[in-house]
Amino acid sequence: MRTTYCGKINISHLNNEVVLCGWVNSYRNTGNIIFIDLRDCSGIIQICFNKNKNQSFKKAIKLRNEFCIQIVGLVKKRKTNNINYNLINGNIEIQSNKLNILNTTKSLPIDNLKNNSELLKLKYRYLDLRRLSMFNKIKVRDSIKNIVRNFMKKNNFLDIETPFLTNSTPEGARDYLVPSRIHKGKFYALPQSPQIFKQLLMISGFDRYYQIVKCFRDEDFRSDRQPEFTQIDIEISFISKNKILILIENMIKIIWKKIKNIELKNFPRITFKESMNKYGSDKPDIRNPIELIDVSCIFKKLNFDIFKKHINNKLSRIAAISVSNIKKINKSKIKEYTKIVQQNGAKNLLWILIEKIDSNLIKIKSPIKKFLNIEVLKNLIKITKSKELDVIFIIADLKKITNKSLGALRSKLGNESGIINKSSYQPIWITDFPLFKKNKNGNLSSMHHPFTAPLNADNKNIKEQPNSILSDSYDLVINGYEIGGGSVRINDHILQVLIFNLIGLSEKEQYNQFGYLIEALKYGAPPHAGIALGLDRLVMLLTNSKNIRDVIAFPKTTAASCLMTTAPNKISKDILKELYIEIK
Ligand code: AMO
Repeated sequence: MRTTYCGKINISHLNNEVVLCGWVNSYRNTGNIIFIDLRDCSGIIQICFNKNKNQSFKKAIKLRNEFCIQIVGLVKKRKTNNINYNLINGNIEIQSNKLNILNTTKSLPIDNLKNNSELLKLKYRYLDLRRLSMFNKIKVRDSIKNIVRNFMKKNNFLDIETPFLTNSTPEGARDYLVPSRIHKGKFYALPQSPQIFKQLLMISGFDRYYQIVKCFRDEDFRSDRQPEFTQIDIEISFISKNKILILIENMIKIIWKKIKNIELKNFPRITFKESMNKYGSDKPDIRNPIELIDVSCIFKKLNFDIFKKHINNKLSRIAAISVSNIKKINKSKIKEYTKIVQQNGAKNLLWILIEKIDSNLIKIKSPIKKFLNIEVLKNLIKITKSKELDVIFIIADLKKITNKSLGALRSKLGNESGIINKSSYQPIWITDFPLFKKNKNGNLSSMHHPFTAPLNADNKNIKEQPNSILSDSYDLVINGYEIGGGSVRINDHILQVLIFNLIGLSEKEQYNQFGYLIEALKYGAPPHAGIALGLDRLVMLLTNSKNIRDVIAFPKTTAASCLMTTAPNKISKDILKELYIEIK
């Protein structure tokens, strides 16, 4: 139906006849000439229908935005004063001599030239996807998948599919369950990841596995989370951690080069502990130069209750961040910052504005001014490398709370003070996470998943001091987003059972949920390790999208529903009966 695409026409086609198909993006009738912008998946070009020269003018009068049409016409140069510099092909237009209206349209519920409500955009997703900006994001997604596939092929990986109707795979979220019609009262779980299957493939000897695969997790919403998302899932046998990290770095570098023409430098590696101490987060945006600094030693002699009770407490931390470029530190700003740290558990946010530094005089503004002497201030300024007009924020609390709350404030201040170069990318590896964390009831649970190998610890150590054991794990973080996570795996069935015991799984639960894995580990399981990267988050970064929904063709809302199909939906009583399910 077409000879070429709107976005592909350029000056080299001058005076050629072209046949184009697409939608009317905009329409303007001057009386003698009708101009339309014709849009297809490649771009936009101006078409004109001339009253004097053209029999299709009469037909064109009927055109409206979003009519689906075919035109035949000649490529012509625009007059200099008519050039549209917003379009790549704005120096040319098509003088149409034939118009074929392929389909008309009802008046559209959303107007893609304006801002529409999120609700309407999701309900009419197929119309929202007509926007070229949306189309381009989905196109970048496709390009990334192709780059990954080529990279994997070159590195001898096999693309192997794993089941969707399966048993629970623990990644820390709730499962989506599918009732079985054949097995009364039994359920499949949709995979939270292909974790166990990829390990089984290593035991089968496949050596290098990858898959671009859907995963399903019923968890609370965040702007970078969807209940159904896509992983680039990878597993390799007989490989060191270092080699895996380098392989992934190479893949990420190629993606950035091909999509953005950006050469990423080498990726720094820091441990979880360093990351928490320095940035107050295990997914730091290291484009932000603000760092958390220990200041406990400075306040040792100070008779100030808030500090006193934390100075000699091993579980506490007194830390500071020093920030320049705060335009105005006023009551409402302090209230806003205090709210942020309180939302993260801290009781107080202390602050000191350094107004003037002279050799014997330091002028400050601070609610704790009367507790501070010149000695303390000098030391504080030295250790935090502060200058005049910098503001020092201090939190004294339990270590976890100090880190988390000051980390959140660090992000806020970094983002609002303009010190972050938003067009740059800074990857970092965070390694050696604790093997376990304590859940709400005080019981141990795995920090990653329970198949993660401990780092330099024997079974006796693990049993006796589980809380102090680290794991051989690694997360890839770019610009503050957790892009991927992986680990060296347990390949010894005794250790695997020990870990299950420590996270409180009874023998029966272990047998029911993971019996097949424990059994498989007994048959010469090779050393293996792997990682999974979040494809959606990669696309977000590479298309500068703030919400994961923008990079998924048919996403869910914050409440995990689809406004277009109205899923999830009620099911008829007959079907439920067949599945042995009764809704109460
Ligand atoms: P993990 O749970 O860290 O590891 O997931 C890997 C990566 O997947 C992405 N991701 C998500 N993206 C969007 N929405 C979600 N709900 C979501 N959850 C996770 C993140 C994350 O870093 N089986 C292990 C990997 C392994 O050990 O090999 C796993 O799934 O970018």
